[in-house]
Amino acid sequence: MPVNAESSRRVVSGMRPTGQLHLGNYHGALVNWIALQSRYECFFFVADWHALTTGYEDTATFKANAREVVIDWLGAGLDPAACTMFVQSRVPEHAELHLILSMVTPVSWLERVPTYKDQIEQLKDRDLSTYGFLGYPLLQSADILMYRPEFVPVGEDQVAHVEITREIARRFNNIYGREPDFTARVAKAAAKLGAAGAARYDELRRKYQEHGDAAALAEARALVTQGSRLSKDDRERLHGDLEGGGRAILAEPAAMLTRAPKVPGLDGRKMSKSYDNTIRLREDPASIERKLKAMQTDPARVRRSDPGDPEKCPVWSLHQIYSNGETQAWVQKGCRSAGIGCLDCKKPLIDSVLKELAPIRERAKEFEANPKRVAEILDAGCRRAREAARATMTEVRQAVGLDFE
Ligand code: TRP
Ligand code: SF4
Repeated sequence: MPVNAESSRRVVSGMRPTGQLHLGNYHGALVNWIALQSRYECFFFVADWHALTTGYEDTATFKANAREVVIDWLGAGLDPAACTMFVQSRVPEHAELHLILSMVTPVSWLERVPTYKDQIEQLKDRDLSTYGFLGYPLLQSADILMYRPEFVPVGEDQVAHVEITREIARRFNNIYGREPDFTARVAKAAAKLGAAGAARYDELRRKYQEHGDAAALAEARALVTQGSRLSKDDRERLHGDLEGGGRAILAEPAAMLTRAPKVPGLDGRKMSKSYDNTIRLREDPASIERKLKAMQTDPARVRRSDPGDPEKCPVWSLHQIYSNGETQAWVQKGCRSAGIGCLDCKKPLIDSVLKELAPIRERAKEFEANPKRVAEILDAGCRRAREAARATMTEVRQAVGLDFE
């Protein structure tokens, strides 16, 4: 088996402790996390420090909210035997890496992150002119770089944060990854690819560095990853060499844009706790039914006899997530011809949502009734995460020159 078999590759992602999760969180992230856990070594965490950056005044619900999030993870099917679940603040190494990274991060990079101004604009009721809030993406970079993941599954709104993470890793490696005899060590490492491999490596490296050929970079990386005679250090040096920097102490992750459907809220806007338009995973079935029955439809369909346009209706967006082709065709035809009413249209949807959530609610109930089990899962997860984090920090301290004792 190749050294970097898929099962040994890492993935990391986090979620802020917003309390009980809703269908937007489920389809936007969790479904994907659940699919990843059997194929990658996954680290999933509750980003409580991130919640602090925007909600520092109101922390009374933090702990309970974190617990609710984890219960929903478990209910939805994250398996403690398959992935590592932990709480960010319980792995204080994240704070140490954040601090070290802050020393090499230009303030302008952080001010430039699109979410910075957006959020300040959107959350006008809070004073976000804090040091911590400006550092939000950098804290996220520390979360990510700590685990040297291959990629970070995130939604569109987080892609800029993964991008700055890559820039910071590059900068860190450029500053601290240069060994005095780097070039000689790179040559030695490349030689271990065999004569043909080394020549190909040189060619690809030149193609990338001189012409920005991304395909060449990808091929060269694969060559290095697959080079069975290379040590871990060799690999890091070659990866660093490809980027034109030093040894890659912190690996650059890719963002993996979660190809998730946009889940509309009950009012047609994006489903979000702050809009109070959600369906929670553990919500009571009667309440779900009531909410869906009252859900916003195409505003042009005032009377039953008015034809509608599914493209203008958030219920249709839900059908696209939940219904098969046959039902979708029935909706399209029935809506446009006024052959069906909106309640008829919602019926199969209500059934599908309830069917999807029933086993999640049941499993979550078991965990609700067993807080000790949840605590144990988190304890074990935090321990595992800390172990991985300590390994990275040993190397980071060494590279920076802070490896006392
Ligand atoms: N900022 C992310 C969000 O709001 C949460 C988060 C924090 C995260 N650290 C992370 C996501 C690291 C991925 C990786 O959703
Ligand atoms: Fe929306 Fe369905 Fe009503 Fe058409 S029939 S407006 S798709 S709820």
